[in-house]
Amino acid sequence: MPTIVFASPKGGAGKSTSAVLLAAELAERGASVTFIDADPNKPVSKWGSRPGKPATLTILADVTEDTIIDAIEQSATESAFVVVDLEGTASMMVGYALSRADLAIIPTQGSQLDAAEAVKAIALIRRQERAFNKTIPLAVLFTRTSAAIRPRTLKAIEAEFVDNGIRVYGTQIHEREAYRAIFVFGGTLSGLAADQVTNIAAAIANARAFAAETISILKQPAKTGEAA
Ligand SMILES: Nc1ncnc2c1ncn2[C@@H]1O[C@H](COP(=O)(O)OP(=O)(O)OP(=O)(O)O)[C@@H](O)[C@H]1O
Ligand SMILES: [Mg+2]
Repeated sequence: MPTIVFASPKGGAGKSTSAVLLAAELAERGASVTFIDADPNKPVSKWGSRPGKPATLTILADVTEDTIIDAIEQSATESAFVVVDLEGTASMMVGYALSRADLAIIPTQGSQLDAAEAVKAIALIRRQERAFNKTIPLAVLFTRTSAAIRPRTLKAIEAEFVDNGIRVYGTQIHEREAYRAIFVFGGTLSGLAADQVTNIAAAIANARAFAAETISILKQPAKTGEAA
């Protein structure tokens, strides 16, 4: 079943955070999800070792450049969704994972400098498309944005992607304490207590919108962001 790969050479772009939000949301709806933690720093395995991970979410770590394609293909036969988190570099492992993606999500913060890193990720995906002779659907996801305002710079950067035929998520992952809290306390947003963090309901709504949009993109992946 579909493989969703989070990729960006920019460290701290929000890959691991967004990947966990998506995987946890899908798993909480009852879907079986295999999460491949392909970052040698294993941030997601650490999250999963704390209490509260959904029962239908399995984390696979210890994948290498030699094993990642097999790991993805095997997981895709067993689980409703495969989510892959990658480290913030352009390694062989990143390339191999992208070659098996039904959707590559490129998280980026809303500055021009961050967007330039997202463009590098898109260029890498385009090269993988040529190397593997297949289309890799992709979408840019703005992260750590303000829930209150949508600055003009962000709108301009978004418009530039869209003008270049790059799909951009309508949903943005806002900057929220709850998204840091799940890595501290473990588990999912709905498992957080009101005395641990405020505004949990808004964080849940944001993560749900992200998951719902991801599913809708997977249903019509070739509309934009396809190989030229
Ligand atoms: N939406 C958000 N709200 C609040 N904090 C966030 C959000 N997204 C990311 N962060 C924080 O920003 C930092 C970097 O995020 P994250 O680890 O998800 O990025 P990454 O792209 O996976 O980084 P790396 O390339 O190092 O793997 C972390 O401290 C994380 O808690
Ligand atoms: Mg990460």
